[in-house]
Amino acid sequence: MLARLFCQWSAPEAEAGAILCVGLHLEDMAAWASQCVPYTTEHERREASRFAQMADAVRHLAGRALARRMLCAATGQNNIAPFARSPYGKPFCPQTNTDFSISHSADMVWVALCRTATVGIDVEQLRALPDAADLTDQLHPQERQALRALPDNELERTFLRCWTRKEAVLKACGTGLNTPLHSFCVNTGQQQDNWILSAPVADACAPQCAAASPDQWTSHDIAANAAYQCSVAACGPRLEVIVRVM
Ligand SMILES: CC(C)(COP(=O)(O)OP(=O)(O)OC[C@H]1O[C@@H](n2cnc3c(N)ncnc32)[C@H](O)[C@@H]1OP(=O)(O)O)[C@@H](O)C(=O)NCCC(=O)NCCS
Repeated sequence: MLARLFCQWSAPEAEAGAILCVGLHLEDMAAWASQCVPYTTEHERREASRFAQMADAVRHLAGRALARRMLCAATGQNNIAPFARSPYGKPFCPQTNTDFSISHSADMVWVALCRTATVGIDVEQLRALPDAADLTDQLHPQERQALRALPDNELERTFLRCWTRKEAVLKACGTGLNTPLHSFCVNTGQQQDNWILSAPVADACAPQCAAASPDQWTSHDIAANAAYQCSVAACGPRLEVIVRVM
């Protein structure tokens, strides 16, 4: 999306019982920095100014701006309070129970928002990953076995699919990598939905996620852009996934 059109964009409203996922393609990084100013706080802009790379700063600002605009549409309020962070770093808005999750990679930013369940989203640009075989050491034994059985030419792509699925779950829980990657399991195959095989049970997870069985989760891969792997997970059963790309 052209940066100058962001102010004219109307964020879709999130329906109860749905996960709303919006992807933003940042075509011109420098132009985005200024367009995000009206939708970001001074604190966020100060945080962004500490990044060594301009692209990292813009991704941070664009994620916050997109999340804020989606929250305005979801709550019907024009002024959204500054975001706080949970003890493990997940941003949240103290003025609403609507949960959201932000992810960025290369020139894509995704935000997932859900009014009825905690939600996590993760995107990775598809790329060479020479250490993929070593990275499988951290995974659940069943995932490790599935990945190690693959021919070399399928390993990197499948590893990234496994990785974004796991990160989406951990971002829904709000714990990020504080929950061990081997403590829960996802399917590494190509099926787009219902790929959580065993859910995290760590005490550290959001209370509503800690005791949830896989069928109490919604999980989905977003196939909106062939250059990226993107996964979303929410701790609520059978939620509709609505996807918009700009
Ligand atoms: C922070 C983390 C949750 C995700 O990080 P990531 O995949 O590198 O980056 P993403 O762009 O997908 O997500 C970053 C966003 O997650 C959110 N986030 C941070 N901590 C979070 C947490 N505990 N729970 C949920 N969301 C969190 C923030 O919104 C953050 O962006 P912002 O600070 O600009 O608002 C964490 O799991 C992490 O550090 N991962 C390391 C990733 C890695 O090693 N990748 C290499 C293998 S492919």
